[in-house]
Amino acid sequence: MKVIESIKEMKEASQALRAEGKKIAFVPTMGYLHEGHLSLMRKGREVGDALIVSIFVNPTQFGKGEDLERYPRDIERDKELCKGEGVDILFVPSVREIYPENYQTYVDVEDVTKNLCGTSRPGHFRGVATVVTKLFNIVRPDIAIFGEKDFQQLAVIKRLALDLNMDVEVIGMPIFRESDGLAMSSRNNYLSQEERGAARSIYRALRRAKEVFDEGERSAGVLLNEARRVLEICPLIEPEYVKLADMGTMEYVDRVEEEALLAIAVRIGKTRLIDNIILRKM
Ligand code: PAF
Repeated sequence: MKVIESIKEMKEASQALRAEGKKIAFVPTMGYLHEGHLSLMRKGREVGDALIVSIFVNPTQFGKGEDLERYPRDIERDKELCKGEGVDILFVPSVREIYPENYQTYVDVEDVTKNLCGTSRPGHFRGVATVVTKLFNIVRPDIAIFGEKDFQQLAVIKRLALDLNMDVEVIGMPIFRESDGLAMSSRNNYLSQEERGAARSIYRALRRAKEVFDEGERSAGVLLNEARRVLEICPLIEPEYVKLADMGTMEYVDRVEEEALLAIAVRIGKTRLIDNIILRKM
């Protein structure tokens, strides 16, 4: 596995792969890899001839007072995991490499970033859209793979790839869960034992709403109340939002016609966690 830190070298390496006629699959990450990330890499291996992974904790997508400084990092462990998944190139640029002095260009995706995390984390998707655009320009992948835990992020990236005429196919992969249902996230690492126990309620809340949906309920009000009631049982959980949204536009919906995304964000102590489930008519 080649480890590359400079943009110039990364561009040359991906150009060489393209010249060999190789289809490039790309998995952008912020590191501290878990099984969820590895499942994206396995998909990348399956759909591409060459697999490139990036690790970059992107400062522009963290708001003031968020967890940029304490975001978990372990590059040596991540390298071993990438090697184990047959990654061809690991791109690990520095902050200065991505945002040199006097950097001043940002990508704003409009409507799809307004709701859900866009409301509670102003500027977050501007940072995501900017860094993903830059990474796509540097790596020039044929296929890019993202997890559906960050479902709105996936919708934002699909939108920007379409709007900016990028020649990349953006693929979403299902959420990878711990055995008790908690969605895998690098941030789970922040949780104390007690908080980790409480975090189980997030998936229980999603399952409860899905159960009621599968019994025929279609009203957003009723479905969301069912989910909220499960969260309320646990005093450690502070819900940030519990919403039903259109899967493409992320607009809130009053009823589920064919399908919708039930999305939850909560705070448990100092940790913010998100999760979601798709409600779809059988
Ligand atoms: O999902 C992530 O890890 C990040 O938001 C991403 C897509 C790598 C951009 O920094």
